[in-house]
Amino acid sequence: MAENTAAEEVDLDLEEAPEDEIVVLARKWKKKRGSLIMALHELQGRLGFVPRDQAMKLGREMGVPLATIYEVLTFYNYFKLESPGKYIVSVCTGTACHIKGSPKLLQGLEGELGIKAGESTADGEYHLQGVRCLGCCGLAPLASVNGKVYGKQDVDDAHGLLGQVAVDQPTVSAAAEPVDAE
Ligand code: FES
Repeated sequence: MAENTAAEEVDLDLEEAPEDEIVVLARKWKKKRGSLIMALHELQGRLGFVPRDQAMKLGREMGVPLATIYEVLTFYNYFKLESPGKYIVSVCTGTACHIKGSPKLLQGLEGELGIKAGESTADGEYHLQGVRCLGCCGLAPLASVNGKVYGKQDVDDAHGLLGQVAVDQPTVSAAAEPVDAE
């Protein structure tokens, strides 16, 4: 497998400013219809699940009691309250990344991990998902792991990407909205 030397990394780790990210998310959805569900949907898309502390921050910013948030979270099977994996590997399936080969990158990662998009490895280490545009189209095709973006990846980088993840050990901070695997 090719080494990951050509990969460009952009650290979008939001641990330094988690409040800001939640503020942006709350501002985006606060006044829209069905806003709480959509905000929680996007939050889970970014993180792979809805951590309690992030739900509390979102509730504060949107003026929604935590109890109400948990009513929603527990009513819909879609929402996950626990992380589906230690490393949430997201491959962008947005237009720019798709054109530049993200479907093959996703296939490569499926092969490396032995799972399909939307699944987690048996040891709970990795969760793989396709996601919508991450907003870094100039780095297409790209993947992110727990919010850390790895740009200009191709199918030959799949192995190297996972090796780099083992070195970086990014913590869960942000991901992107998952989409149905094609
Ligand atoms: S299409 Fe992949 S980052 Fe925009």
